[in-house]
Amino acid sequence: MHRSRPMTLCLPAEAPALSEREFTRVAHRIERLAGIVLEPHKRPMLAARLARRMRHGGHRGIGAYMDMIDRGSDRAEVQGFIDALTTNQTGMFREPHHFAHLERVLAARTDAAPLRLWSAGCASGEEAFSIALTVAAARGRLALDDRILATDIDSAMIARARRGVVAAERCTGLEPRHAAQLGRAAGGGRQMPPQLLGAIRFRRLNLLEPWPLQGYFEAIFCRNVMIYFSAATRAALVDRLAARLVPGGHLYLGHAELLLERHTMLQACGKSVYRRVEGA
Ligand SMILES: C[S@@+](CC[C@H](N)C(=O)[O-])C[C@H]1O[C@@H](n2cnc3c(N)ncnc32)[C@H](O)[C@@H]1O
Repeated sequence: MHRSRPMTLCLPAEAPALSEREFTRVAHRIERLAGIVLEPHKRPMLAARLARRMRHGGHRGIGAYMDMIDRGSDRAEVQGFIDALTTNQTGMFREPHHFAHLERVLAARTDAAPLRLWSAGCASGEEAFSIALTVAAARGRLALDDRILATDIDSAMIARARRGVVAAERCTGLEPRHAAQLGRAAGGGRQMPPQLLGAIRFRRLNLLEPWPLQGYFEAIFCRNVMIYFSAATRAALVDRLAARLVPGGHLYLGHAELLLERHTMLQACGKSVYRRVEGA
């Protein structure tokens, strides 16, 4: 006798398409949570990433899933939602002219006061690693009390960055003097040395929320983060970042993030590099 198999509930492996209304709902929520403005052409990518997220948590439909995200009661899932929708592309010494600029600035310093530098939107950490290598190159080594803060809204990225491993494909084109500082890691990757990794503090931080920070920074890198924000969010964030620089300190932005609005605290001083005006 033929017996039918017991029915198992399984979610489709294929990502269901998002309707325009569903896309708008997701887009509004991620902009409110993280400032990220989703372009309509990202709809298929969004559907795939959310389907993966929903499968992971056993959620059965986008409507119920978004009701839960909107309620905000499951904070871990809200974080998972944010992590799923961020774009984390990065690399070692990306836009290398910024690191050459930082190295010149640091080499010209005459005082030995400890440095404070911030990689705001650090993704998997390569920007902060490149800053640490640049400081070491400019000053011979990092001083015990030099500190690099590396923050990102994406908790999975922060966990990965803390390991200090750079994947093999992200090591191509490293200058030999920097490559010589790195150890070997599995799969042809490279490992940040403990004395440099130890100077970096990795923290999850949403740039749109209050910053539990004290003190000021000699340099802030906030690159390829604001490109996803609206003009108003970008302008407000640039003012907050500028206010966190020491007078004469530098703000490094991505090449597509040039400042068009007038920010009285900042003065352009190179390719997507801005300097905090003394006395402003
Ligand atoms: C494209 S990556 C850029 C990484 C690195 N700065 C670089 O230029 O190589 C953008 C990063 O910004 C982070 N991000 C987006 N919105 C954010 C927010 N509101 N607060 C903090 N980080 C955010 C993302 O999670 C992502 O890791």
